[in-house]
Amino acid sequence: MVELSPSILSCDFSKLQENLDQTKNTQLKMIHIDVMDGVFVPNISFGFKVIKDIRDKNDYFFDTHLMIVDPIRYIERFKEAGADRITIHYESCENPLDVINKIKSLGIEAGISLRPKTELSKILPLLKEVDAVLVMSVEPGFGGQSFIESSLDRVRELRDYIDKNNLACKIEIDGGIKTTNVDKVIKAGCDEIVSGSDIFGKEDIKGQIEKYYEIFKKNPL
Ligand code: DX5
Ligand code: ZN
Repeated sequence: MVELSPSILSCDFSKLQENLDQTKNTQLKMIHIDVMDGVFVPNISFGFKVIKDIRDKNDYFFDTHLMIVDPIRYIERFKEAGADRITIHYESCENPLDVINKIKSLGIEAGISLRPKTELSKILPLLKEVDAVLVMSVEPGFGGQSFIESSLDRVRELRDYIDKNNLACKIEIDGGIKTTNVDKVIKAGCDEIVSGSDIFGKEDIKGQIEKYYEIFKKNPL
């Protein structure tokens, strides 16, 4: 089954836990946590304290997407704050494999992500080392942008590579996903779907999550 990873970046932060409470009693297993440092991307989101505070109140798998420079400096602190997977950007560090190994040494999942303009070939050798590859289908930094259609070709190419090499790496997609376009990213080969504004930006958060799972049921992997 495809999994949904709603991005809390689109929550009303003055009611963060209230928004998360509206996701309860659905099939949801994970949430997506976007950390931005204002340097790697032109936006600043939140850090350890926010993650720790929601960790204590939510059992979800914390899918943590670091859009920060030199992430190796902070891996332990994100793990301590409650991350279950830490995904780093290929472009954010000199030696992505060192960071991936550090994440794995702490007993949590590791992911690799790349900007829409970064060549896919750069990350292929890393796929055997990670639990997930996060395909950015918008320029990282902000929620609510439009899906870049050429991301579908990237997903197809990754699906092909992962299947041919028999790798366990999941394909996750992030940016511009809505109930109206999610079926085509699943058909292209995605296992995990990030969606921010189309879930937490909507009045009926729970109803939106249920809509996604209805679509997943019709598009089995
Ligand atoms: C963008 C973030 C995304 C974002 C997705 O840099 O990585 O996770 O929150 O938001 P939507 O679904 O609104 O494009
Ligand atoms: Zn993200």
